[in-house]
Amino acid sequence: MTAKLIKGTEIREQILEEITTEVAQIKAKHGVVPGLVTILVGANPASISYVTLKIQTAHRVGFHEVQDNQDATISEEDLLALIDKYNKDDSINGILVQLPLPKHVDEKKVLNAIDPDKDVDGFHPVNVGRLMIGGKEVKFPPCTPAGIQEMIVRAGVETKGAEVVVVGRSNIVGKPIANMMVQKGKGANSTVTIVHTGTKDLAAHCKRADILIVAAGVPGLVKPEWIKPGACVIDVGVNRVGETVSEKTGKKVAVLRGDVDFDAAKEIAGYITPVPGGVGPMTITMLMLNTLKSLKFKLGIA
Ligand code: GUN
Repeated sequence: MTAKLIKGTEIREQILEEITTEVAQIKAKHGVVPGLVTILVGANPASISYVTLKIQTAHRVGFHEVQDNQDATISEEDLLALIDKYNKDDSINGILVQLPLPKHVDEKKVLNAIDPDKDVDGFHPVNVGRLMIGGKEVKFPPCTPAGIQEMIVRAGVETKGAEVVVVGRSNIVGKPIANMMVQKGKGANSTVTIVHTGTKDLAAHCKRADILIVAAGVPGLVKPEWIKPGACVIDVGVNRVGETVSEKTGKKVAVLRGDVDFDAAKEIAGYITPVPGGVGPMTITMLMLNTLKSLKFKLGIA
């Protein structure tokens, strides 16, 4: 093993401690705490476990948390009315609608109904625009890209002038992280290339990368020979490739694999994130940070 492991689980603990301290300070001085509502529609098992973890984490850092679970049959109109209620609720600073939504609901319409100043997921077009402009305009960077950037910064990897190659062009990860790394500022100022399914020679681009960010959703896509020696490799892939029985609990658990061939890549890279325990834990952490920021913007102390 030559690569330094960038552990999301450790960075999460540092950031959650920082948030807990700041929440207590704000409570003492202003008499308020950040409020987060999660809206879950239906009973998708993965969504239930994500929402539960979000609420538990919000509770841990001292937030006011509301878990609003709705039946899968809720009408689009009623869901929009629910969002409007939380838009107007002064105790709520962040609204998170867990995706995916049932087919009869227009996802875009629902996300666009969230007040951009409570859109802690950073999915509203206003926040996408703010991210594109960069600098002080940015209010809520989307959570997974924000977590990736935080990991790169905290690992001490130089980003200024670095060749960053992003594999994948999703709205949730690929496009926003590329946009963030190209901005002038801390943890960015890089030369960025996005590669995708239409790219002619994926390997050639990856080989140039000082920082390789892979969010393709294809297990083991990136081969060790595509990695520049010493590069920082961020693997966003969380692919369920099977099931096993947990030694600890005796329960069935998913076997997860990243988009990078980790065992071989770790002998070549300078830095690498594991799967699980890498980027994954950072997403919820950054959601907490965005919710805290939302209250700070409201109080004029951000
Ligand atoms: N479903 C999967 N990932 C996410 C996320 O980051 N935010 C929301 N709202 N739903 C998701």
